[in-house]
Amino acid sequence: MGSWEKGVKGRIAGAGPGERSGVAKRSDRTTASPTHPALARRFVVGISGASGAWYAQRLLEILLSQGHEVHLVVSDYGKRLLFDESGIKTIDLASLCPKLAKGAKASEISKNLFIHPNKDVGAVIASGSFLHDGMVVIPCSSASLGAMATGGGSNLLCRAAMVTLKERRPLIVCHREMPLSLIDIRNMETLALAGATICSPNPGFYLLPKTVEEIVDFTVGKVLDLLKVEHGLKTRWESD
Ligand SMILES: Cc1cc2nc3c(=O)[nH]c(=O)nc-3n(C[C@H](O)[C@H](O)[C@H](O)COP(=O)(O)O)c2cc1C
Repeated sequence: MGSWEKGVKGRIAGAGPGERSGVAKRSDRTTASPTHPALARRFVVGISGASGAWYAQRLLEILLSQGHEVHLVVSDYGKRLLFDESGIKTIDLASLCPKLAKGAKASEISKNLFIHPNKDVGAVIASGSFLHDGMVVIPCSSASLGAMATGGGSNLLCRAAMVTLKERRPLIVCHREMPLSLIDIRNMETLALAGATICSPNPGFYLLPKTVEEIVDFTVGKVLDLLKVEHGLKTRWESD
């Protein structure tokens, strides 16, 4: 970790309620991952202003419930989406994952959730020296898709994505828009060529989902597969 990362700690004007720009040492996470300490890993999640708050909430719920460490960054329009679609006013564990926050392990789980202000491009996830096991942008707007495709690093979400690519770690981009413009398609191509996986929320119906939750789980299960995180969500085709 560079001294520039330490220097900005706690001095971020854009930090909202619950957001912290603390330094998370990799060694901390084994003690803070009670469920499966040997298997606990560290992920970065970005939420931007595209429809699909439930995808992000479900992904966070599963990663945190398994004891993984999650570094979360939410764009301004991501915050608006979380409010519009889920009534979330404050970015914290209780609002994002109410089931986990009410559970017996809530205090342990909350220690594994690091929420970084999007304005803080000096947060730990902006540095390649901060080791992690992959980043997911879910949902990803066309604006963030374009910013990532052009190498933009003026906000933390895009900077963290750029760093994930340059360090050759998994970057999973759950872009949501339809129909697609040629600009979106070209931005996807650029990111895919740079090593990202474009994983648009695009549910299959061959498992005959009965609820919206099952449709959400289909996409989240695909993301977890890409992160190599075990899960029991219904995503797999099993022929008779
Ligand atoms: C309610 C609402 C829904 C939106 N849904 C989408 C969407 O599904 N896909 C998209 O690309 N942009 C969508 N937008 C527009 C983006 O939020 C907007 O382009 C914004 O600048 C994205 O910024 P960000 O990527 O920094 O979050 C939506 C905006 C609002 C207010």
